[in-house]
Amino acid sequence: MNDIAFLLNGTPVTVSGDNPVRTLLDWLRETRGLTGTKEGCNEGDCGACTVMVSDAAGTSALNACILFLPQLHGKAVRTVEGLTGPKGEMHPVQAAMVEAHGSQCGFCTPGFVMSMAVAQRNGATDHDDYLAGNLCRCTGYAPILRAAEAAASVPAPDWAVDVPPAGATPAPFAPASSDALAAWYLDHPEATLIAGATDVGLWVTKELRDLPEVAFLHACADLQGIETVPGGRKVGAGVTIAALRRAMAGPHPAFAELLRRFASEQVRGAATIGGNIANGSPIGDAPPALIAMGAVLHLRRGEARREMPLEDFFLDYRKQDRRPGEFVEAVTIPDKAPGLACYKLSKRFDQDISAVCGCFNLELSGSKIKSARIAFGGMAGVPKRAAAVEAALAGRDFTLATVEAALPAFAADFAPMTDMRASAGYRLETARNMLLRYFHQRSGAAVSVLEVEA
Ligand SMILES: Cc1cc2nc3c(=O)[nH]c(=O)nc-3n(C[C@H](O)[C@H](O)[C@H](O)COP(=O)(O)OP(=O)(O)OC[C@H]3O[C@@H](n4cnc5c(N)ncnc54)[C@H](O)[C@@H]3O)c2cc1C
Ligand code: FES
Ligand code: FES
Repeated sequence: MNDIAFLLNGTPVTVSGDNPVRTLLDWLRETRGLTGTKEGCNEGDCGACTVMVSDAAGTSALNACILFLPQLHGKAVRTVEGLTGPKGEMHPVQAAMVEAHGSQCGFCTPGFVMSMAVAQRNGATDHDDYLAGNLCRCTGYAPILRAAEAAASVPAPDWAVDVPPAGATPAPFAPASSDALAAWYLDHPEATLIAGATDVGLWVTKELRDLPEVAFLHACADLQGIETVPGGRKVGAGVTIAALRRAMAGPHPAFAELLRRFASEQVRGAATIGGNIANGSPIGDAPPALIAMGAVLHLRRGEARREMPLEDFFLDYRKQDRRPGEFVEAVTIPDKAPGLACYKLSKRFDQDISAVCGCFNLELSGSKIKSARIAFGGMAGVPKRAAAVEAALAGRDFTLATVEAALPAFAADFAPMTDMRASAGYRLETARNMLLRYFHQRSGAAVSVLEVEA
């Protein structure tokens, strides 16, 4: 077994690969004494454990509590202890936090400054967005946002810049290509695949599950590309939600905007589209949008490949049409979905799981609805098309009367459940309201409170 090798605050380190699901957070705190990286929630929600991770693709802020050590092989990690300058001077983001009184108890502060330092390096200036994954319970966000604005207006310093080590040995537990993965997984169908670990991480940190056999997917570079194909884009399973969001901003801005509200900057930088589909959650955000667009899923088992409309993959609650040894290779997203709108309803605007996620894609021909594809998350045990609603719309005039006449069909399509996020009745009513909202949006009305200006 190879060791896991990476740069830590500029210094090469190696770690035995004995325990592939040891988290970076535990390792930093327990073996290196680097306790500046805090443990708040231990589930990716609070950002207290944010670290800076650099690889050939760039620099990201990631949550150390749900990052397993093998995911860092060949990369560079910087913690808050490695943020100060060569003479011990504060990083500009730290100086800005002091100046703006952005810290009180200080527990969240290392995480905030790491997120800010990555944003400053990457030239990101949407502070609300990139700090949405960092929670502060005592200072209040205004001083922190003022610090972020101040830091963004000065250049990033030339220290704390990491060049990931070149020519690293093969990563442990990580097949180097999808061919190698396919062959290995066929022989080890009981193994757990780990892509970004933003779901699997919680199985370990919260459910204390043993994962006796694992394979990491991050070394399969050929799963991380976005390829132009006739009529669409074939997106590799290993493409992160952050990269997908950037790629969708041009062709599908509504989908890109939905992905902005997918978890947080730290989670989007690790989470993959393959993981979001494969975990089969009824409240995953990408599947309803992809189904509404008519996406096609590509599966691979050994040398055998098959494809299917994405909606056919989801058979029942947490049951997918995936055979032992088969994995998600890619998803093809059609270029054509000009009528797409995606509505995510959650208790908080940012960094929250959907109660209901409704995605609408109606093709109009003059005043007529030529075709309708509508899919929901949070309304059934799987991400599901609203077949009866679609049938009530297709071929009719796109009028308020048609839409209102289609509303009862929601009860034929869905019998949602009541849980801590929403009651069944609330879910049904909001789903109906989303269709009304879609009608008004396509008719030119401003429907988002974010668009209302005083
Ligand atoms: C704080 C937090 C907030 C979140 N918010 C959201 C949100 O707003 N919206 C949302 O949809 N999700 C959210 N999630 C859930 C999670 O981020 C997504 O489901 C994510 O896309 C999972 O991708 P991953 O690469 O991290 O998957 P992993 O955790 O690595 O894997 C997830 C599952 O998929 C399997 N798997 C992974 N890749 C493949 C593959 N190529 N083929 C076959 N099986 C595979 C794994 O074996 C596992 O069963 C959140 C998670 C956290 C921790
Ligand atoms: S400890 Fe809360 S995100 Fe990691
Ligand atoms: S300063 Fe106390 S939690 Fe943010």
